[in-house]
Amino acid sequence: MQRRRTLHWAAGLTAAAALGSSARAQTPAAPGAATPLPGRAVPGDMAPGKPPVDPKNKLGLEVDFVATPDEIVDAMLELAKVGRKDVVYDLGCGDGRIVIAAARKFGARGVGIDIDPDRIAEATANAKKAGVAKRVRFVQGDLFEADFRDATVVALFLKWNYNRKLRPRLWAQLKPGTPVVSHEHDFGEDWPPSSETIVNGKKIYLYRVPQKSA
Ligand SMILES: C[S@@+](CC[C@H](N)C(=O)[O-])C[C@H]1O[C@@H](n2cnc3c(N)ncnc32)[C@H](O)[C@@H]1O
Repeated sequence: MQRRRTLHWAAGLTAAAALGSSARAQTPAAPGAATPLPGRAVPGDMAPGKPPVDPKNKLGLEVDFVATPDEIVDAMLELAKVGRKDVVYDLGCGDGRIVIAAARKFGARGVGIDIDPDRIAEATANAKKAGVAKRVRFVQGDLFEADFRDATVVALFLKWNYNRKLRPRLWAQLKPGTPVVSHEHDFGEDWPPSSETIVNGKKIYLYRVPQKSA
């Protein structure tokens, strides 16, 4: 249970979101969790300091916006061996930092999907600022209904139960061998990771989509 509580926390103040903003304000941060900043989020991948969060969670999302710190973004993309030929999807893309870093630092193309239109507007603006607007796009939608069949790499920072729900769609849509890299959250016993690493105390898991069973 301890493990689940830790995961729940790290996915974005989800327990607090369920309880409402006053409960969230009184609840201490998990060890190593992103610290809420007052006011608007700082554009990711370009701003030093603590990663931004959405302090309001106005959509009442179970997995709210908490950005992956930039050093973990880089480690995720390196673990997945992202290169110029890749199309990197981030399902639940937040401010777009993973897809933007994939384009800016690794020469890839990318697509970010997020249910929150404010995140999509922010990610689109961040891509322009980073000079990669032609290599990336951001689409508003539900990741559980998304078509990501052209992905050659998928990046995730969601929550343990989201990962488990998403797994059949990943296996159905992605080619065998496609890397799926997840910040913090695993996919459970049914899908063991190919490798994992720890950066600044946070786990990153690398998965490979298995061969389709006959
Ligand atoms: C923890 S944040 C991760 C943001 C970004 N991937 C990163 O690592 O910096 C999770 C994001 O998933 C989005 N989200 C939550 N539920 C979603 C859903 N059903 N479909 C699409 N996006 C969703 C939230 O709006 C939030 O921006």
